[in-house]
Amino acid sequence: MPVKLTPRDIEALIVAMKRGEEYKPWQVAKREVFREYGIAGTVKDKIFTAMMYRAWSLQGLLDRVVEKAVGVSVEKLDAYTRAAARIYAFQRLIAHREGHEDITVWMEEFTPRILAKLGGDPDIFKMLVERIEEARTAIDPLEERLMVSRFIYERVASFIGENEAETLFQFVNSWVPPLSLRVNTLKTTVGNVVKWLRRLGYKPRVSPFVETVVKIERGELRPEVFKLVRRGFAVLQDDASAAASLLLAPRPGETIVDLCAAPGGKTSHLAELTRLKSHIIAFEPYPDRAAKLRETLERVGADRVVDIVMGDGRRAPDMLGEEVADAVLVDPPCSSTGTIAKNPDVRWRLKPEELEKITKLQRELLEAAYRIVKPGGRILYSVCSLLREEGEDIISWLLSKYHGRVKPLEPNPPLFDPSPLQPWARRAWPHRHRTSGFYYALLVKQA
Ligand SMILES: C[S@@+](CC[C@H](N)C(=O)[O-])C[C@H]1O[C@@H](n2cnc3c(N)ncnc32)[C@H](O)[C@@H]1O
Repeated sequence: MPVKLTPRDIEALIVAMKRGEEYKPWQVAKREVFREYGIAGTVKDKIFTAMMYRAWSLQGLLDRVVEKAVGVSVEKLDAYTRAAARIYAFQRLIAHREGHEDITVWMEEFTPRILAKLGGDPDIFKMLVERIEEARTAIDPLEERLMVSRFIYERVASFIGENEAETLFQFVNSWVPPLSLRVNTLKTTVGNVVKWLRRLGYKPRVSPFVETVVKIERGELRPEVFKLVRRGFAVLQDDASAAASLLLAPRPGETIVDLCAAPGGKTSHLAELTRLKSHIIAFEPYPDRAAKLRETLERVGADRVVDIVMGDGRRAPDMLGEEVADAVLVDPPCSSTGTIAKNPDVRWRLKPEELEKITKLQRELLEAAYRIVKPGGRILYSVCSLLREEGEDIISWLLSKYHGRVKPLEPNPPLFDPSPLQPWARRAWPHRHRTSGFYYALLVKQA
């Protein structure tokens, strides 16, 4: 028997979609809205949540159809109309094929009135209802099958081949990444955390790659798990991310610069690996993110060995001087394509202009690292990206620009797999290693 919905239910769905766009993670925003509308925990909550999850995953695809139907870029619509349009497009084009509840009739009947009340645009919605069938042709079958933009797919396929790219995207589409905790051995032991999690009813698994990372399947997450993080016994970080600090292999007594530090997963790990016996300088230009970095360091008990510089990492040579660091970590902003399984909207967001902008920033940050590292010092460059443009190509650029003055090193331990293009660089792959996708290169500046 199909579910019977009221205008208030449809309003809850539209408001939740809108708020999910404003706050991350969208699940928290959705829960808040469904509580306000009195449907949290009900059958309607379950039905709407399943739809919303898919609508976020397919956002780029749905946006293309909406745009074709109404002739206006989705970004230009007001936020309520955009929210209603996305969920309606999902209903009409995809929902029935995946066994979701059919709420099309309720949406068509109530949405124009709801949009008028919320200050949205009922006419745009009506136009979408009329023209959506014609607009179907905007769907690229490859994008629909792999749930990723053709732009990202082609970049990945050009480098690992079409077959493996297909396997990779099929895998991330069905995989729910576990919750990963890196145990802070300054405060506790892996054994203690494993025991605590077992007592809570979980079946923790220690990562086969990083011995201090413990994973549990998400399922119903109990708040006690987050107590471990709040008290600084663990940091939310997966093994692919934790590998970066391990590969840099920081040593007690060293001066280490972390050029892109917030929220501090890797900075706190560097401090821990040197048992608080190194001096770390951590850059972060954004005040809110610098505050998060400080919080992480305080929680894990590493704040006294880290100087936070609220500034642009590219200015590090002017601020610190040339050749002052024994080791530098460069973990720059990136496309985040390595985290598609966790962040579904990443599948569609990346545009060629954006990729050009971030790769320029990545080159500039890496060059700053080259300038501040001492002769004989190490640089570890890492990105949570599946694209060679942000990994292999950035490093090739530095190696050719400073030919002979900086060289790649074989990382030890040789975590994950060699890069298909650079045998001395490493790559973590979601479908091969059940973790986020990462690229790592360890370099040494020649004396
Ligand atoms: C990939 S995140 C770093 C994650 C961090 N290393 C960790 O493990 O928790 C990139 C960070 O670089 C910061 N960032 C952006 N532009 C920057 C710049 N010009 N210089 C330094 N950091 C920058 C971002 O705000 C973001 O916090």
